[in-house]
Amino acid sequence: MTLWGGRFASGMSEVTRDFTGDTSDRRLIRFDIEGSLAHVAMLGETGIISAEEAGSLIGGLREILENADDFEFVESDEDIHTAVERRLGELVGEVAGKLHTGRSRNDQVALDLRLYLRDAAGQRSSQLRDWVGTLVTLAEGTVDVIIPTYTHLQQAQITSLGNHLLAYAWMAVRDMERFADCALRLDRSPLGAGASAGSTLPISRESTAKTLGMFGPIPNTLDAVGSRDFVSEYVFCCAQTMVHLSRLAEEIVLWASHEFGWLRLGDEVSTGSSALPQKRNPDIAELVRGRTAALIGDTTSILSLQKALPLAYNRDLQEDKRIVFHADDTVAGAVEAMNALLSVSEFVSPRLSSGTAALPLAERLVGRGVPFREAHRLVGELISRLEADDKTLGEATVDDLTAVDARFEPSDLEVFEFEPAPIDDQVTELRSLLD
Ligand code: ARG
Repeated sequence: MTLWGGRFASGMSEVTRDFTGDTSDRRLIRFDIEGSLAHVAMLGETGIISAEEAGSLIGGLREILENADDFEFVESDEDIHTAVERRLGELVGEVAGKLHTGRSRNDQVALDLRLYLRDAAGQRSSQLRDWVGTLVTLAEGTVDVIIPTYTHLQQAQITSLGNHLLAYAWMAVRDMERFADCALRLDRSPLGAGASAGSTLPISRESTAKTLGMFGPIPNTLDAVGSRDFVSEYVFCCAQTMVHLSRLAEEIVLWASHEFGWLRLGDEVSTGSSALPQKRNPDIAELVRGRTAALIGDTTSILSLQKALPLAYNRDLQEDKRIVFHADDTVAGAVEAMNALLSVSEFVSPRLSSGTAALPLAERLVGRGVPFREAHRLVGELISRLEADDKTLGEATVDDLTAVDARFEPSDLEVFEFEPAPIDDQVTELRSLLD
């Protein structure tokens, strides 16, 4: 069934139907019905249709909603809106023809997608909340594991593994906030914008927005049916989250290597090799990293989709759903898998290069009034002398230090007893954000 056809002598060819139809929107079914229920209630309230007609339509829509999981689509359903209206007709008869009064699929689909993404944003936020919780718990458990920080992938300073993991927790907090912020802008109703410039019927856009628990109607009807910046934003939220996960994934791949040896992946989250019996592979992390490529592609796709569209609705916009669903599904799977991965893997204390004590050593001199630039040079000189003797910084003796500069003191060797900064304040702040 199509929702149109009066002006055509023949129906669509199969090629046209297959090419233009959309099955990717089927997951919108509940939101499509929710929107229709609000619309019908408004049509009844305003007297555009009778209370009895509204009652039948609402009864039919509720029945479809209750059985939404088992909804049977037929080949000729052009999209989800068509499918629901077709089914409504089967259930309540001719009165189903009144459902679409004062509405177009253009405002309908824009609404459906907003409702869907409002719900999805909530799910993603709560998943990220769990993820932050996992990272904080892990951080508390690994505050005694001392690791080097890296700049240029060269050992730089020392920190705790807990602090390193909390960096990802903060990123995830911002990702969570971004989804919540995006949801604020999703929360306006396009309904009543019709095909592009509303309806001549006395519809109430405020009423439908209110029923749907939305902030209010989108004031400009062309904007309401033609804009998809809310989709771009959502896709970006997904892509940025995924990029953060991907950075950690990359580190996990490194940490799980023989060379690093910082992480022993749990059996449940490892994969083996069909050829090499010794392998314990970090495939989850690799696939998170790999799938991030497609998410970056999604941001390009969603923006490119809109860049040359004249106002207002264009069928191109049907493609927005495939893009955002792909982005959202991928990030949902990735957060879940990364959470599982880290929950059952074990961290191992790494071997530190004593070079990470170079800055604290220079700062001992700074504490005695030596200008930092000079202290930096003196420690550099010390390292160079030690290297000439095939020694590391950690093997320096008091004599080695004082041979470079008399202002070094025996107690300066304490810098090799690495003690990373505590993370308690961060943990408290993060925990309070999660409450
Ligand atoms: N399936 C369409 C979409 O996703 C619904 C709107 C179709 N409107 C139209 N006039 N053909 O955008």
